[in-house]
Amino acid sequence: MNFKEMVGNKAAEFVKDGMVVGLGTGSTAYYMVEAVGKRVNEEGLSITGVTTSNRTADHAGKLGIPLKDINDIEKIDLTIDGADEISDDYQGIKGGGGAHLFEKMVANQSAEVIWIVDDSKLVHKLGAFPLPVEVVKFGCQQVFRLFEKKHMKPSFRKDDKGDLYLTDSGNYIIDLHLEEIDKPHELASWLDSLTGVVEHGLFLDCVTKVIVGTENGPEVKDVKR
Ligand code: A5P
Repeated sequence: MNFKEMVGNKAAEFVKDGMVVGLGTGSTAYYMVEAVGKRVNEEGLSITGVTTSNRTADHAGKLGIPLKDINDIEKIDLTIDGADEISDDYQGIKGGGGAHLFEKMVANQSAEVIWIVDDSKLVHKLGAFPLPVEVVKFGCQQVFRLFEKKHMKPSFRKDDKGDLYLTDSGNYIIDLHLEEIDKPHELASWLDSLTGVVEHGLFLDCVTKVIVGTENGPEVKDVKR
């Protein structure tokens, strides 16, 4: 079993009957959705899923997980998602799969947030992984130039065909190749203040549990908030 499957399966154990569950996006979250689907079908687990991308909605729908739109629920009990980097103090970068806008909206509504990763995602400081910034198409070159001026090494994300990557909301993504982020909260506030930026991939003070895949099995770390 690979580490992604290991942590996906482990995370699915935290899902309880009657919960509203945020279902993340990405190659690790994929296994969690599979495991949750298995519990729904084999154990009769009764949950409502809220998805974080069209990809996950298709996947969960095919497995027969009952789903609701985020607009139609009052709260989410637990969200389980992958992450691209997690720092020593449990701050994260997400959006390598381009879904961080919906992922953040779902996480923000959730009482508990579990991130599932293999140990390659654990870093001392954030920033080696390019920070995704979703931007509206209108005026996006102006935002890009501002990032250039600030020496943030921006690049527009491309899809497999070499076209500009489009998010589920029809926006573009600019990846910032920062190498090291010294003050994530300051950077997040600045990005939040920019007109034309829809959402960035800094997920700060968000996660409540991290499950790491290791040679010795899944390690569950509780994060005090
Ligand atoms: C999707 O936009 C991302 O936030 C993913 O959750 C994150 O990139 C982790 O993806 P993998 O599990 O595929 O590495």
